[in-house]
Formats: sequence, C-alpha cells, structure tokens
Amino acid sequence: MKRIAIYPGSFDPVTNGHVDIVRRGTALFDEIIVAILHNPSKTALFTLDERLDMLKETMKDIPGVSFDTFGGLLVDYACERGAQAILRGMRAVSDFEYEFQLALMNRKLNREIQTVFLMTGLRWIFTSSSIIKEAAQFGGDVSELVPPMVNRKIIEKYRRNRK
Ligand code: PNS
Repeated sequence: MKRIAIYPGSFDPVTNGHVDIVRRGTALFDEIIVAILHNPSKTALFTLDERLDMLKETMKDIPGVSFDTFGGLLVDYACERGAQAILRGMRAVSDFEYEFQLALMNRKLNREIQTVFLMTGLRWIFTSSSIIKEAAQFGGDVSELVPPMVNRKIIEKYRRNRK
C-alpha cells in the first residue's frame, strides 16, 4: 500500500521551516500532498495561486511531492485523496495546545486518519509565516528564513501595497 500524507496549511507564504518538514517527511511517506486550505473568510497576503506557485517552485526538487488546494474538512479531503496520515510540524510548546486540539478533533471526525508530527528543525524553531510577514512589512530582512523566490515575492508585495 502506498503511504500517502497530506501536509496541510495556509502557506502564506511557504517558509524554510515548511520545506524542511516536507523534505524530512519524504523519508516516511511515499507521497506527500502539500495542500493549501482555501478559506475565503481569512484574508491572506498572497492569493491561492501565488501560494501554489511558490510551493511548487520551492519544492520542485523534492521527489514524491504534489500540490493541491482544498476546502471543507481536512479529514474528508484526506479520504478523498486516499491518504492515511496528516503531517504537521511542531515548533515549540506554544504550538502544542493548538496542534493537540486539531489532531484530537480530526481523530474524532475520522479515526482512520493518523496525525504525524515532526519537530521543526532547530534553525527554524522561532519562525512562522506570520512573524516573517510582520518583520518584512517594516523592511526587516527575512532572506535567511524563506526560499529566495519567496523573499523576492514578499519584497515585491509590500512595495506594491505601500504604493
Ligand atoms: O497553516 P495553518 O493555518 O496552521 O493550517 C491550519 C489547517 C489548514 C491545518 C486547519 O485550519 C484545517 O485543517 N482546516 C480545515 C478545516 C478542518 O478540517 N479543521 C479541523 C477540524 S475542525
């Protein structure tokens, strides 16, 4: 049986921490589907298409990875795609409560789907898409925290938004 995992998220935008989790996840799964939640009620910096393009570009050298968007319940989407697991990165104690809630709710909704956590690499432990956007918005250098293409897009986006 092919071991398939969904790696879900907002990816607004993708960070080096995300790329690291997917890279390491490929040692555990035959296929990882990186899936962006389409949530019309949440305003994102990047459009769904922009986020998808950035994911594809930054992970194009990782074998066994595909990309998609989804709406509705994650466990339903996982079933639809024939996945047995949800892959999530865990940074620190601050992530634990939310991740624990999410994993338990998903388990309540569908006991067949397992949540697998990988600890975020130490280099990326203090980063998140939100904190990166916050720093970049005020001109902070985030080039070591995101793939080069994403860094360019962030700079472009905030420059355009300022005009
Ligand atoms: O990158 P994020 O924002 O931490 O990712 C959160 C995500 C997409 C994993 C979560 O919001 C999600 O799975 N949403 C879909 C709806 C759902 O199934 N929620 C969990 C059970 S209520």
